[in-house]
Amino acid sequence: MRRTVKEFRQAKGQRLVYLTAYDYPTARLAQEAGVDAILVGDSLGMVVLGYSSTVPVTLEEMLHHTKAARRGAPDTFLVADLPYLSYATLDRALFAAERLLKEGGADAVKLEGGEEVVEIVSGLSRAGVPVLGHVGLTPQTASQLGGYKLQGRRPEEAERILKGALALEEAGAYGVVLEMVPKELAKEITERLSIHTVGIGAGPHTDAQVLVFHDVVGLYGDFKPRFVKRYLEGEKLFLEALSQYVREVREGVFPAEEHSF
Ligand code: KIV
Repeated sequence: MRRTVKEFRQAKGQRLVYLTAYDYPTARLAQEAGVDAILVGDSLGMVVLGYSSTVPVTLEEMLHHTKAARRGAPDTFLVADLPYLSYATLDRALFAAERLLKEGGADAVKLEGGEEVVEIVSGLSRAGVPVLGHVGLTPQTASQLGGYKLQGRRPEEAERILKGALALEEAGAYGVVLEMVPKELAKEITERLSIHTVGIGAGPHTDAQVLVFHDVVGLYGDFKPRFVKRYLEGEKLFLEALSQYVREVREGVFPAEEHSF
């Protein structure tokens, strides 16, 4: 059964599992595996569309993939990312959220930033849109943070991230993603918030965890951040299978009698 926003609001201390998925087959597998929530992350720009960052991802692309993921996982809570600049003003954020919830079938939206986005998060929350926050490494503005690096090592950075997370809770977010921060900071934020934290590269103390589908199953080349645990060497297995298909067609092994009418 699809979980409700209220259940997520009351999920403090539960070890919830989020996983990204971007289309019908990956969402179907995520649901079958029993995840608590699917995130149609704008990481799709990198792992599915081949962009070098999440910046180029458009609302139309998010919508296209959210609809497909929803078709694959009708019974799973689904969060869709608001793409870069689609929440630069409250009007734009409401427009984007409306499309992702009504047309895409999402249950909630996620956006990046701390204190600088609280007005947007309050506005969305007032309008009845469930919002998941995201602080620490925020990929849409990674360049301003010096790249895809651990955030919050310096005390003033840690303070900014903590304040951001507290402000998001105050503004009505139902949860907050903590990306690439030291585990001690993630622990402190998790203890200070009454909403659940969702960690990625944030150690074991967050309430929930999230990983990118393609990282988990080894479908994103050789790139493997330290915080990723790869549960399958997917590319290797796919490549073996595809190479065998190519060989068998060339050698006249496929199609065999049992594949023919
Ligand atoms: O876009 C994404 O997949 C994300 C997760 C890494 C949290 O934001």
